Amino acid sequence: MSRYVLGVTGASGGIYASRTAMHLQRCGHDVTLIVTHPGKQVLEYEGQNALYDYCKDVCNVDDFFAECASGSADYAGMAVVPCSMGTLGRIANGTSDNLLVRAADVCLKERHSLVIVPREMPYNLIHIENMKRVTLAGAVVIPASPQFYSKPASIEEVVDTVVAKILKHLGIDASQVATIAKSWNGER
Ligand SMILES: Cc1cc2nc3c(=O)[nH]c(=O)nc-3n(C[C@H](O)[C@H](O)[C@H](O)COP(=O)(O)O)c2cc1C
Repeated sequence: MSRYVLGVTGASGGIYASRTAMHLQRCGHDVTLIVTHPGKQVLEYEGQNALYDYCKDVCNVDDFFAECASGSADYAGMAVVPCSMGTLGRIANGTSDNLLVRAADVCLKERHSLVIVPREMPYNLIHIENMKRVTLAGAVVIPASPQFYSKPASIEEVVDTVVAKILKHLGIDASQVATIAKSWNGER
C-alpha cells in the first residue's frame, strides 16, 4: 500500500479525477485529495462529488500545515487531474502559492512521480512552454487524450484509457493497470 496525492483543479474533466481515485483505492492505495476553489465549483457542476468517497484524506488547499506540504512525508507520488492552464503555469514557475502547487513542487524536488493531466484546447504557446518546463523538471505530462483502439463501450471506459496511463506513470503494478484498460496487443 502506498499513499498518493490527487490534485484537482477548475479544469473540465472531474470524471478523470473520480476514476483515478476509484482505481487507486481499488488497487489498495490511499488517496489524499486537494481541490482548488474553482475545482470544487467545477466538480459540483459536472456532478463528480462521488470523488470524495474514494479519498482517505481531504486537505484544504489553503492549509500549508498539511503533511504533503513537506518533503519528509512518505507520499509515493502525485497526479494533478484535470490540470487547468492556471495551475500548470503555477507549477511550472514554482510559485507554491497553494497546497496543491506546493505538493507538486515537493514531488519535483524529492524526485517523486508527478503526473500532470492538462485539459485545454487548443493550446497557446504559454501552455506548451509550461508543459515543456514541467517535463524538464521531471513531471510526466499525460494529456486527457483517450484512445479508441480498445473499443471502449461507455464514457467510463473511454476515461479509463487515460486513467490507466496515469496509474502506470505513478508506478502502480502493471498487472493492476492491465485491469483498468486493455493495452495494444499487436493483433489486427
Ligand atoms: C465549467 C468550467 C470549465 C473550465 N474548464 C477549463 C479547462 O478545461 N481548462 C482550463 O485551463 N480552465 C478551465 N476553466 C477555467 C478555470 O476554472 C480557471 O482558469 C481557474 O482560475 C483555474 O483555477 P485553479 O487552477 O486554481 O483550479 C473552466 C471553468 C469553468 C467554470
